[in-house]
Amino acid sequence: MSEAPIGVFDSGVGGLSVLREIHALLPDESLLYIADCGHIPYGEKSPEFIRQRCAVMADFFRRQGAKALVLACNTATVAGVAQLRQCYPDWPIVGMEPAVKPAAAATRSGVVGVLATTGTLQSAKFAALLDRFANDVRVITQPCPGLVELIETGDLHSDALRTLLRSYVEPLVAAGCDTIILGCTHYPFLKPLLSQILAPSIILIDTGAAVARQLKRLLSERSLLAAGPARQTQFWTSATPEHMENILPLLWNKSGSVQSFGL
Ligand code: DGL
Repeated sequence: MSEAPIGVFDSGVGGLSVLREIHALLPDESLLYIADCGHIPYGEKSPEFIRQRCAVMADFFRRQGAKALVLACNTATVAGVAQLRQCYPDWPIVGMEPAVKPAAAATRSGVVGVLATTGTLQSAKFAALLDRFANDVRVITQPCPGLVELIETGDLHSDALRTLLRSYVEPLVAAGCDTIILGCTHYPFLKPLLSQILAPSIILIDTGAAVARQLKRLLSERSLLAAGPARQTQFWTSATPEHMENILPLLWNKSGSVQSFGL
């Protein structure tokens, strides 16, 4: 048993979609969350830059005594998870990856769409994922610049967002996709809007719940699950704390105080 916290980070508030799954599955765990909003979007940054940010945040969580690390960001995972695992071989580290395997199993039309950042879609890790799991399906990829920036303002419903989102999903629908992978942790917050835009028969798949289950497995194997009730979840941001405090009730369903992450 370990009462130590779990460190979770993303380029911004998107990783809260993963944090809420972790909290739902592991309500006794103490959670530390960094939104690296001062450096968002990762999707348009170089892998080298993202690896440096991953190293800074991992080091911070180590100093906070975190017993595990979750990269609640697909783009950070493709760029940085291998280096972090090499650096900390004994630390449980969980990353995200677009849900290609479940989508390939779920599709009936044989055409799967992937919404993700440019960085994720251009990575060797994503190409390897397709090689491994998507041989029998057609995969249409769609980078989505601009979505993350709107979600970061707390916008989940505006006309501008709807127009941009529609421009990204229409080509997927036209190509015959019946299953769409939400390959960026910001996008699960768009599910209500997507359900207005898309036919109800289209399946949306994200990996937040699977990542929470994987984290639980790793902690349980090492006898690291917390026994008692959680202390409060702590939040940091590398941008303006007040801005994130305003968005928390919308994306985390609770208010909370946010500290400044100046590293
Ligand atoms: N939330 C991140 C992901 O899962 C990316 C957002 C960004 O571009 O910074 O890929």
